Amino acid sequence: MKAALLYCIIAAAASSAAPDWECTDVALPDGNGLVAHKARVCYKPTLTTPSDPSALHVFGHGDGGGGPLIHGYDRALSTLTDAGFVVASYLSCWVDTPCGPGGSLDFLEFYKTIVAIQGDSELSQLVNFDVPVTLSGHSSGARAVLMAAALKENPNTFMQDYEEVTGMSDEMKAARDMVGAVVANHPDAMYLEKYNPDIPNYNISRTPAMILTGTADIIEKEGSAWRVFSDIASPDKIFANVDRAVHSEIVLQHRGMALTAAFSKLFGTGDERERAALYAPGGLAEDAPIAGGDGARNNGGAGGYLACEEGGGYPADVREFCA
Ligand SMILES: *[C@@H]1O[C@H](CO)[C@@H](O)[C@H](O)[C@H]1NC(C)=O
Repeated sequence: MKAALLYCIIAAAASSAAPDWECTDVALPDGNGLVAHKARVCYKPTLTTPSDPSALHVFGHGDGGGGPLIHGYDRALSTLTDAGFVVASYLSCWVDTPCGPGGSLDFLEFYKTIVAIQGDSELSQLVNFDVPVTLSGHSSGARAVLMAAALKENPNTFMQDYEEVTGMSDEMKAARDMVGAVVANHPDAMYLEKYNPDIPNYNISRTPAMILTGTADIIEKEGSAWRVFSDIASPDKIFANVDRAVHSEIVLQHRGMALTAAFSKLFGTGDERERAALYAPGGLAEDAPIAGGDGARNNGGAGGYLACEEGGGYPADVREFCA
């Protein structure tokens, strides 16, 4: 599966025009001997300054998408810096294999990235740490954001067989607890042990979460993203099946990033102006046209788009999917 993903990322990394942002690298703490043990931190200087710092968004790449190939995500991630976030992407865990079984410890890189920024005298001034940190990720990185949400909610039960988790420093634990909302872009199958080694303790029931997939994603098993969505019990959650999006939509055409920015703003910085578009039928259709009709590949039980919110503004026919 991952060969196709890698090819797409290489192609995009080679062709992307440079976005309108500034980026610096920061070394990650607790180096584990892997290449590219750093994170790339980007922001828009007109929107983010030491006197007007921004919320932090940390991005997790897919299998094979770290190291220098992180540039494959530039176009997509510049949508988030344009929306006023400081966006940090770890380059580490370039491929999944060394980072826990099948990449199942990739999520630790989110915490290392947060700790590294806090420890950097210049970058730390650009971030407003008074608001929650939001996460998004692609494929393996989408699995990582969901595992980060599960660990925040279940710090004493989830993934306790791993000393990398039980032995986290106080700084890493504080970073774990900063996570406010997560966006999983074409996530791995969280219900398979191959991807999620602690299914019995995997439980997300509070953290706002958004799941993005696409009708042309033939790498995911059909309906997989809907199943991942259904297994999340949080009252605030959104499912979007983007019309004709392939597994690496985020690298190739970048649709769905306005949804990602809006969700991160609403549930990260508490920007209520984003709520109306997210909770309208079809969401931000200009950014991400939603699969129409019944039977589109990867549609969920309620079609191509479902937005559940605390207090339940949703119609009766979809209530069973939101409860
Ligand atoms: C998940 O956690 C919530 C809150 O602690 C709990 O109510 C729920 O029963 C748990 N779900 C599962 C499947 O363990």
